[in-house]
Amino acid sequence: MLDDPSLVPAVVEESLRMFPAFAHFGRTATKDTELHGQTIHKGDKVVMWYPSSNRDETRYEDPDRFDVTRNPEHQAFGAGGRHFCLGTALARLELRVLIEETLARYPEMEIEGSPQFVESPFANQLKTLPVRLRPAA
Ligand code: HEM
Repeated sequence: MLDDPSLVPAVVEESLRMFPAFAHFGRTATKDTELHGQTIHKGDKVVMWYPSSNRDETRYEDPDRFDVTRNPEHQAFGAGGRHFCLGTALARLELRVLIEETLARYPEMEIEGSPQFVESPFANQLKTLPVRLRPAA
């Protein structure tokens, strides 16, 4: 990415695929339906697990590998229905600027310590990621 900043948008998409910020949202079925042979009745509570659908091995080759060339479609912001995330454009912009500016200021930043996840079944996010910042020479 340091050599080729044009990769940043693809890095954002692959990061959203592999590490969606929210683990799940719940919904109530508004009509009877069937999904992969599973009957869902009107009124049933259903949970959509984004880290699972984003690593669907029938959809992604080698789904647990971070691949900056993949530039994938994913469900980090939902599946495109009426509740699709309203903040998609802002979130993508923030992530792109965060990566671009951090790389520009600290091109030699290194991970220093173990990442710790937030202890929550909902937030699929890091609490801490210790890094060493070295300013550009
Ligand atoms: C990386 C950042 C973000 C992620 C991963 C994310 C993810 C999601 C997901 C998974 C949903 C549910 C989609 C569905 O059920 O189809 C959602 C809904 C929503 N998001 Fe985001 N979101 C992010 C950032 C934001 C931001 C920055 C805003 C506002 C500025 C925002 C506003 C909303 C709103 C208002 C909804 C509810 C839409 C509705 O129910 O009609 N999100 N988001």
